[in-house]
Amino acid sequence: MQPIPFNQFALTGNEIKYIEQAIHSDQIAGDGAFSKRCQSLLENQLTANKVLLTSSGTAALEMAAILADIKPGDEVIMPSYTFVTTANAFVSRGATCVFIDIRPDTQNINEQLIEAAISEKTVAIVPVHYAGISCDMNAIMGIAKKHGLLVIEDAAHGLFANYNNQALGTIADIGCFSFHETKNYSCGEGGAIVLNNKKFIERAEIIREKGTDRSKFFRGEVDKYSWQDLGSSFLMSELQAAFLFANLEQAETIKLKRCAIWSTYFEALRPLEKKGLISLPVIPESCEQNGHIFYLKTQSLETRNQLLSYLKKNNIHAVFHYLPLHDTEMGRLHGKFIGADQHTLETSQRIIRLPLYFGLQSNEVDYITQTLQSFYA
Ligand SMILES: Cc1ncc(COP(=O)(O)O)c(C=O)c1O
Repeated sequence: MQPIPFNQFALTGNEIKYIEQAIHSDQIAGDGAFSKRCQSLLENQLTANKVLLTSSGTAALEMAAILADIKPGDEVIMPSYTFVTTANAFVSRGATCVFIDIRPDTQNINEQLIEAAISEKTVAIVPVHYAGISCDMNAIMGIAKKHGLLVIEDAAHGLFANYNNQALGTIADIGCFSFHETKNYSCGEGGAIVLNNKKFIERAEIIREKGTDRSKFFRGEVDKYSWQDLGSSFLMSELQAAFLFANLEQAETIKLKRCAIWSTYFEALRPLEKKGLISLPVIPESCEQNGHIFYLKTQSLETRNQLLSYLKKNNIHAVFHYLPLHDTEMGRLHGKFIGADQHTLETSQRIIRLPLYFGLQSNEVDYITQTLQSFYA
């Protein structure tokens, strides 16, 4: 068997054609025709008020932190089991991260621990929809309403996944997506911010355009543009938007293929779970996932490392993540963990992500499941 990489970005056929069209248009900077096509496709399919493409998922979260008016000393509640950006976007504005434990079934923030972590300094809650499986958003939105807090969904994994039939990223005040090449839909590096609360739309346009009202100027609403607010260059270039549009117009096909691979893994590995050798993902009834990540949890760190080496020896590139944020020097400097860490570190030591991408062939999926079975045999 040829080596099976962990990830390959999706190519659907129109990427080069659309990039050529972008080159031949009169605009390759942001907010040209392809950016507008991506944004309106996303707004329609997600039923979202306003979507703005950004240069990365990180940029979307950084915009969200500015929109949230984060100031030094503010506290932001989030899981420790997440990517660095979830924390850094808020820490960069002076916030302290208040980390809480995750649920062992979904690896998402444990909504039952949130209230105990709220203080008079708390400004926002940032749920991360791990693997495109939603956090308990009813509970989280209820807590936020009761305490007057903002909710920002880190939906980097969650595009076209749903919670109670509502698209992830559109449930809270603000949602953030990533189009990094490891995500279901990609353009290399890219992202999007979803402004569900209309009060943020005008300011978001300014922050994204380096703190100027250039968007209004281009629409002919002002006769010159000037410095209005904080901001940075958060736009996605048209060349990337052209690539992204080719992926997005095949969104359903990509999602169906990924979910089919996910289900094949799940069914093939159930016997190992029944024998108590591994734990498999749990999808709560309220969630429709998007096939972003297939993970399993081994019984110990030692078995996890042995299994990763065994897969590598058999030409299969599987990976683990995340190193808990609270357990790093930066985490200790800019954050605190409230309550006991029952599942965060343990999950990070037991988890393995299997290859899952649009171009993965069914014989490769079978080979991967057989290799897992032979390890446990
Ligand atoms: C949970 C989470 N949030 C944010 C990001 C940042 O996205 P990007 O890489 O597009 O900046 C990632 C990226 O992998 C992520 O996994």
